[in-house]
Amino acid sequence: MIEKVLEEFKKKFGADGDIRCYFAPGRVNLIGEHTDYNGGHVFPCALSMGNYAVARKREDRKVRWYNMTYPNDGVKELDIDTFAPNNNGIWYDYQAGVIWALKENGREIPSGYDMVMLSDMPAGSGLSASASIEEIPAVICRDLFDLPIDMVECAKLGQYSENKYNGMNCGIMDQFASAMGKKDCAIFLDTATLKFDYVPLNLKNEKIVITNSKVKHKLAGSAYNDRRRESETALADLQKAVDIKTLGDLDEKGFEANKDAIKDEICKKRAKHAVYENQRTIHAVEALKKGDLEAFGKLMNESHVSLRDDYEVSCPELDVLAEEAWKIEGVVGSRMTGGGFGGCTVSIVKNDAVEEFQKQISKVYKERTGLDCEFYIADASDGARRLTD
Ligand code: GLA
Repeated sequence: MIEKVLEEFKKKFGADGDIRCYFAPGRVNLIGEHTDYNGGHVFPCALSMGNYAVARKREDRKVRWYNMTYPNDGVKELDIDTFAPNNNGIWYDYQAGVIWALKENGREIPSGYDMVMLSDMPAGSGLSASASIEEIPAVICRDLFDLPIDMVECAKLGQYSENKYNGMNCGIMDQFASAMGKKDCAIFLDTATLKFDYVPLNLKNEKIVITNSKVKHKLAGSAYNDRRRESETALADLQKAVDIKTLGDLDEKGFEANKDAIKDEICKKRAKHAVYENQRTIHAVEALKKGDLEAFGKLMNESHVSLRDDYEVSCPELDVLAEEAWKIEGVVGSRMTGGGFGGCTVSIVKNDAVEEFQKQISKVYKERTGLDCEFYIADASDGARRLTD
């Protein structure tokens, strides 16, 4: 991959000077969905798929960017002093957003840079291609201009730019996973404090199988912001009854004792999901550390049901994928992953059942939806970085 990008860079912008290579991954979340803006825990891992980039510093205030994934956009030549928030959400807006976020946070870059990038992951599939696109400029600027920022700050910059430049009110999970991923581990992150733990996956007899539904329903962005508002309303009601800062401060018992403080029934369901999902995530990680994969899988299944019924962010296609997976022998657990309304499911499948799983799911998915799904075996990988060899 990176050789192809390097070759294109030299063709477009010349082979001289200090040319550097970078990679930023997408992510898959194993459990802990829609908890990251509710002060809860998440448990994602970075993937080996993502965006590759090649960059070289310039002396002036210009950038020249080319994305081989979207060749029709041509080379974008822009002035870094003109970047201002918009909601267009095109790949170069994600680049510009991070440079703008750096400036907003007192880390202005001294000059522009030339860059060529290329993705090897499916866009719009809920595997955070957008976080990977944001971590590319973060890691490039950090390295090219020797900025005194660590990778946690790179994650925060990505989220800040997505919230304030691109108008998507996301939490920190995706950018954190892309920036901080570690090979063969998932990240147990407390989104209220940003304290985290790398938990080895130790899957010798199982694989993490991602199934792409190949659908992305239009309401995803606006419904996401709605869910966030509904959770905030529930929190404000609860705070009149109990002293908490976030929904993540409550456990199941605390929620049941105080839930009637939430006036609106829909908001009550949203809060129930946020509280129970956070607890499920904590229990799931405990189970994994003890080697109790069966318990982990059961919690994944419960997570899907809660996202389907209480948080209402699933869709018929994701439900078919998860529900059919639950029927297959050798499937430890299966659930939708990411924001929802399309995208992917994540399943833990015994090695010797993976083939049958793919055969069976492809067949039933086609029968029930008329669509073809796609599979990827997740390979938990390191986070965004400069590639040195
Ligand atoms: C999207 C957001 C994340 C997170 C998930 C749901 O991926 O970008 O911050 O909220 O949805 O868990």
